[in-house]
Amino acid sequence: MSEAPRIVVLPGDGIGPEIVGATMRLLEALGEFEFDERLLGGASIDAYGTALTDEVLEACRAADAVLLGAVGGPKWDTTDPDAPRPEQGLLGLRKGMGLYANLRPVRPSPALIGASPLREERIAGTDLLVVRELTGGIYFGDSGREGDVAHDDCEYSAAEIERIARTAFEAAERRAEASNHKPRVTSVDKANVLETSRLWREVVGRVAPEYPGVALEHLLVDNAAMQLVSRPADFDVILTENLFGDILSDESAMLTGSLGMLPSASLGADGEPGLFEPVHGSAPDIAGKGVANPLATFLSAAMMLRHGLDRPEVGGRPGGGGGHRRDDRRGAGGDRRLARAPGLRVYPDRGST
Ligand code: IPM
Ligand code: MG
Repeated sequence: MSEAPRIVVLPGDGIGPEIVGATMRLLEALGEFEFDERLLGGASIDAYGTALTDEVLEACRAADAVLLGAVGGPKWDTTDPDAPRPEQGLLGLRKGMGLYANLRPVRPSPALIGASPLREERIAGTDLLVVRELTGGIYFGDSGREGDVAHDDCEYSAAEIERIARTAFEAAERRAEASNHKPRVTSVDKANVLETSRLWREVVGRVAPEYPGVALEHLLVDNAAMQLVSRPADFDVILTENLFGDILSDESAMLTGSLGMLPSASLGADGEPGLFEPVHGSAPDIAGKGVANPLATFLSAAMMLRHGLDRPEVGGRPGGGGGHRRDDRRGAGGDRRLARAPGLRVYPDRGST
């Protein structure tokens, strides 16, 4: 990788430009980065009539990493199946960049415990990672509408399930190394009803013996949704398919009290660029007022440094316990500027996620 990593920056819509702007300033204080700013989502629809142009997809594929704000807003809301929608830009990027693994770490910050709708004793000790399959399932199956009838097909292949299962088991191993607990993967499906889920359960079970140190449990998605709020601290890694992961990750976010604190990394094949974005949306109601919270984007940039740019030495512990570990600083060598940067005291990520 060159001295200055090339980052395609996609501010998107609503509060996107504000939170991404603040994150670029933070990154500039930490080291040298080459930013290539492009349009995505509604902004791209307005300029080009499509949410993602071929040029932007190509630029993203050729970058070292992609940093995204958020897409969407009432201006582009429509139920017309033929009209372009901002979300198509995001989905096109995920598919076009082969980003099949979405990692969403959830760890309540001590300062925000009171903001969670759940009682403190219930969320105490919560530290989980949602591993969501991102390029398959109902999001990308055949869909259509004929008159009053619409359909969205859900399809998964064993190969797609296998690779995301490996991501989850490996993440569980890494997390256990970093914090000394017994690793566990909870695979979430709807195997009592769906054929894709029965295949999912079978394949995950087949991959599990390759990771003998990691315990595996299966949960039905309705039960998982309930357990997430009743015993969140018992989860370690939650492995699930695209649609269930979308829903469960928003539910998990509320354990932290704020969707505004959740980062995410979307990763593809080894050596290919990843995409880093906050889990929250474009919040059009507060856009342009200078009140948007950029922390989830900061935290996504931290995941980018670790997972996308191989700069894990800037790691620290999240809220409170944070700061930099002496050994990490020493190990940083020529990157001392990065390692010393005060901004990364908010760094949420540990070697684990
Ligand atoms: C997310 C979002 C997206 C999704 C939308 C914006 C298409 O909700 O990243 O979770 O459904 O995946
Ligand atoms: Mg979502």
